[in-house]
Amino acid sequence: MTTHTELFGALPGSRFTDDPVLLLPARTPLDGRLDAGRRELAEDFEDLADDRWLKGDHVFRKRRFGLFAADTESRAIEPLEDRAFFQSTELNPYAGGMHRKFEPLAARTRANPYLAQLMWDVLAVLPGGRGRTWEVGVHLMRIVARPGLPGHPAPEGMHHDGHAFTSITLVGRADVSGGVSRFAGLDGRIHRELALERPGDTVVFEDPRCLHDVTPVEVAGDAALATRDVCGFSLNPVEPNPVEEDR
Ligand SMILES: [Fe+2]
Repeated sequence: MTTHTELFGALPGSRFTDDPVLLLPARTPLDGRLDAGRRELAEDFEDLADDRWLKGDHVFRKRRFGLFAADTESRAIEPLEDRAFFQSTELNPYAGGMHRKFEPLAARTRANPYLAQLMWDVLAVLPGGRGRTWEVGVHLMRIVARPGLPGHPAPEGMHHDGHAFTSITLVGRADVSGGVSRFAGLDGRIHRELALERPGDTVVFEDPRCLHDVTPVEVAGDAALATRDVCGFSLNPVEPNPVEEDR
């Protein structure tokens, strides 16, 4: 049975079997309500907060974060209490080992219909995505570059995120060169490179089965500023012993 989604159209039948990385090109045009939500989400990136956990003076990353429980049975999304975001130093030598508290999502971001649809459509892609509750961390991230000052989406280099699945959706990019997502097997050999080019283009990956990084964002041509805006989800099943059973 083919699964159809609002934002990506028909999904490929075989997902996360051979390849832990799945590229989902954005479907266009969207219906009016979702398209308005998509544009509103893009505007919300003008109001992100500086990432206080970066090293050095050039603030190359701005962000906001929110945590939700998404019940795929009842189609309910409940906000969870904001809490600090923690990764071990093993997972993240750059910024691990610290309880990083990020500024919360704005109220209008949390109510955005496009963001809700994006959660359902990414969950629809996952093996075992239906009929259970997922904890979804929503990261809005803007990478900023200036001439001679690149922005680093993944300053820690090749890494795992420490989640069951991660998704990255491009919301916007302006005057960017670089910002290419790279995926490697557990042996560290890179086997896939992809650039998210159009708003809505999304990559979903099964984090424990691959390593990933993103190449630095640099300014293209003579521009004075480059920005790359992405909406990333961390996706973890709430119940134990989740994903394997109905793969
Ligand atoms: Fe990552």
